[in-house]
Amino acid sequence: MKVLVTGGAGFIGANFVHQTTEAYPNAQVTVLDKLTYAGNPASITDLERATLVEGDIADADVVDPLVSDADLVVHFAAESHNDNSLNDPSPFVTTNLVGTFTLLEAVRRHGVRYHHISTDEVYGDLQLDDPAKFTEATPYNPSSPYSSTKAGSDLLVRAWVRSFGVAATISNCSNNYGPYQHIEKFIPRQITNLIDGVRPKLYGAGQNVRDWIHVRDHNSAVWRIIEHGKIGETYLIGANGEKNNKEVVELILELMGHSPDDYDHVADRPGHDMRYAIDNARLRDELGWEPEFPDFRSGLTDTIAWYRENQDWWRRQKAEVEAKYAAQGQ
Ligand code: NAD
Ligand code: DAU
Repeated sequence: MKVLVTGGAGFIGANFVHQTTEAYPNAQVTVLDKLTYAGNPASITDLERATLVEGDIADADVVDPLVSDADLVVHFAAESHNDNSLNDPSPFVTTNLVGTFTLLEAVRRHGVRYHHISTDEVYGDLQLDDPAKFTEATPYNPSSPYSSTKAGSDLLVRAWVRSFGVAATISNCSNNYGPYQHIEKFIPRQITNLIDGVRPKLYGAGQNVRDWIHVRDHNSAVWRIIEHGKIGETYLIGANGEKNNKEVVELILELMGHSPDDYDHVADRPGHDMRYAIDNARLRDELGWEPEFPDFRSGLTDTIAWYRENQDWWRRQKAEVEAKYAAQGQ
């Protein structure tokens, strides 16, 4: 089985490549990755059955021969960070929309099975006192340049299924954490701050809720959908991990031996979504999926250990990331 993984040098894609080579001895993985600031070849270089091709998913000349040689395309590549999309939306439009379009045209031409990785942010946000969760039927209502380009890319996939019969599935997952996550993101930013003796930074009052899932659980669900999902359908992925940001910072502080109030409040994110929550009933009931790492405290303990033990992996980017945040008062 030849699998083309776009964005396989990024956080979730790299974990997917590791999990695929571990669990599927016959899989030959090709990673197509532009190696933006978020892509790190060191995340996958130790793997024998994975080959990295440096290139842009929006470049049809690069994409076409790779897709024609694949049995399956799993599309992770994206500009993925909300704060960056507020500073400069342009690469989000090119990569998330034009890049997805380019891949869809290639899988259409060559009749290749396609799985599209997306986010719960396409549904907008929920209020804190709302008992509702997102389901596959929730209307799209994205808030940020990032989430609106992801929403647009999902709609392209749905149109290519209906209009051209492309064999695609879509998954929309909640917030991931685990090894190989870029240190611009909330959890690794705070862990690496504490390793460096810097106080964690909480946007606004820290009441915003995210529905945390371990990255390995996201990827096991993706494989379940690829193997057992219905073509043309969307599946939500989540593991009932709702927590507000203040609780998460306090837990990181506790696990790293600090007092729970040893953090700073900083400027809030403009348009900051209040709460995300996934109803994963369809994934559980129809596909029989269960998370293997539902214990957030234990997953976070392992993640902290990973960042302590792999400082070479993130150290070079730390000063630049923090300088960018400092310029925004964050
Ligand atoms: P990431 O930013 O860590 O990695 C993105 C990867 O895509 C990088 O390796 C980057 O070099 C590559 N890339 C960017 N532009 C490219 C282009 N034009 N051509 C080829 N490669 C390009 O992102 P992530 O957090 O691993 O997210 C992966 C996917 O999962 C994204 O589609 C994201 O929307 C989705 N998602 C993320 C989360 C989360 O919590 N991180 C949750 C749900 C869904
Ligand atoms: O819900 C899925 C989404 O989760 C994915 O689609 C995105 O690619 C991924 O980046 C993530 O988006 P968020 O914006 O929720 O993640 P982020 O790590 O940037 O922030 C998580 C929460 O923490 C959010 O409420 C903002 C807050 N935050 C973030 C940073 C970087 C802070 O309080 N302090 C910080 O320093």
